[in-house]
Amino acid sequence: MNTPLRRIAISTGGGDAPGLNAVIYAVFSAAMRQGWECLGIRDGFNGILQPQHYPHGGVERLSWERVRGIAHLGGTILGTTNRGDPLRFPTQQADGTFVEIDRSDEIVAYFEREGIDALVCVGGDGTLAIAHALQQKGLRVVGVPKTIDNDLDKTFTTFGFDSAVAFASECIDRLHSTAQSHERVMVVEVMGRYAGWIALHAGIAGGAHAILIPEIDADLDAVARKIMQRDEQGRRYALVVVAEGALPLNGQRVLAAPGQAGQAERLGGVGESIAHALAQRTGKDTRVVVLGHLLRGGSPSALDRVVAKRFGTAAVRALAQGVSGVMVSLAYPNVVHVPLQDVAGRMKRVPLDGDTVQTARDLGICLGD
Ligand code: F6P
Repeated sequence: MNTPLRRIAISTGGGDAPGLNAVIYAVFSAAMRQGWECLGIRDGFNGILQPQHYPHGGVERLSWERVRGIAHLGGTILGTTNRGDPLRFPTQQADGTFVEIDRSDEIVAYFEREGIDALVCVGGDGTLAIAHALQQKGLRVVGVPKTIDNDLDKTFTTFGFDSAVAFASECIDRLHSTAQSHERVMVVEVMGRYAGWIALHAGIAGGAHAILIPEIDADLDAVARKIMQRDEQGRRYALVVVAEGALPLNGQRVLAAPGQAGQAERLGGVGESIAHALAQRTGKDTRVVVLGHLLRGGSPSALDRVVAKRFGTAAVRALAQGVSGVMVSLAYPNVVHVPLQDVAGRMKRVPLDGDTVQTARDLGICLGD
């Protein structure tokens, strides 16, 4: 377990987020300075589990030529997938249906066979649960927390979140003038899965009048009252920011697609339902904007670049110090290590007794309660 490191691999899994390339750059750069070789696994672990899909190799040896100039770019040069969990790998049966099969032993065997001493595993809760399982099977693993949703526990923030919030805020800014000019209600649906971090932060930053998050069961009559109060005061428009996981209508989540083998359910569409319900209640002209995957694109913000580079170099430092089975985490002012077992399977939702929620309330923003 504590043999000297010569060769490490990096994998990026789950939905892409701005900052992934900065982590890859940072891990490679720091590994080179340790004198290690650094490999990149394609598309999460698919590069190992589905080598037939990669005519030029599912695992590549990274080089300065490959990583130079990538840190400010969105996406991930290694590719990613949210249909490649080795613990529940979707596998087609003879009858065409898919079942989930645990293929994690093949990853461990591959590392042994290829003399790869450690893995830096970059991802959200699903990917970090895989990292934990691989660590338990004997691999040296360090996790790096990524997601625009900011829903990972045991870290102050994940990289990707700041860039997503910055873009969503800019969109809300732009919608103010058109909403005001037409005296409309604009409903803005943002991603975030089962947590309201993006909606809450972007809504506060962009000056929304109502913000609906999954942590608060929304009463649309309260939102309609807020809109009509504004109308009576001569402010005949409103911006309503809605998290995709919000639960306004009979507590039912609105899905774009149900879960299937190897793939979680996809949220989406709640903005449309809310707009319809608000139009009925207020009689106002209402429009919906779904920001969706736009939140995942573009260059990482300066903050995300710094956090991503701090995480990437900290992961290499951890391995160099003989530390593994941990996730690097931001605990202001420093990056620290937390055991993967404390992270796997946990979700961080918006605390309702926190000062950010209180800030929204004190600003007069309706939270649907
Ligand atoms: O976890 C990141 C995220 O963008 C969520 O906010 C969203 O629910 C999900 O991924 C969308 O996934 P997909 O790219 O599969 O549509």
